[in-house]
Amino acid sequence: MTFEKHVAIDFSKVKPSVMKMNGISETTMTEHFKLYNGYVNKYNECMEKTDALGVDAVKAGQITYSDIRSLKMGLAFALGGTINHEVYFHNLGGVGGKPSGLLEKQIEKDFGSYERFEAEFRGTAMAARGWAFLVWQHDLKRLIVVIGDDQSTFPPHNSHLVLACDVYEHAYYLDHKTARAAYLDAYFKNVDWKDAESRFEHSIKH
Ligand SMILES: [Fe+2]
Repeated sequence: MTFEKHVAIDFSKVKPSVMKMNGISETTMTEHFKLYNGYVNKYNECMEKTDALGVDAVKAGQITYSDIRSLKMGLAFALGGTINHEVYFHNLGGVGGKPSGLLEKQIEKDFGSYERFEAEFRGTAMAARGWAFLVWQHDLKRLIVVIGDDQSTFPPHNSHLVLACDVYEHAYYLDHKTARAAYLDAYFKNVDWKDAESRFEHSIKH
């Protein structure tokens, strides 16, 4: 078996604009990167420990407790936490406004208007216990907004992440205390729609 460790992205260097945002402070981002690094480390650990299990231990799956169950549960959470945060950080550091190009057209087709989409995304973010996502659903061939109640629930299979919004309190408490709606105002002021557009264009090609 070969396993290549996932290396955490240093967003302060890859995308320095995320350190100078309006309404989401550098301190929040610095602390947030620490949590993201934790998910990357746990993803690597789960993969390495799974590879190291002997075949008897791998086969000894059991629903109440078994090593393979613990590792697979941890893997889903850690990999979700890794990918969710990477998309979220890439999605930030922009100038807000509205999307353009193919994403704009698809949003208008699937939601009626950008305004309707943003209202639904904000409402979903207020209702979520962890994340709001805009995804391209490959089977339905449409964009949908879905809730994430933690790092690994509930986006359906065959969904490609276009836009992610972290609504865990660590994403905004330092800047907005418990005022999640104010954080969402800041989020939309800092969305990098070019990044979301390129994710969407990639997803419809593959
Ligand atoms: Fe987070």
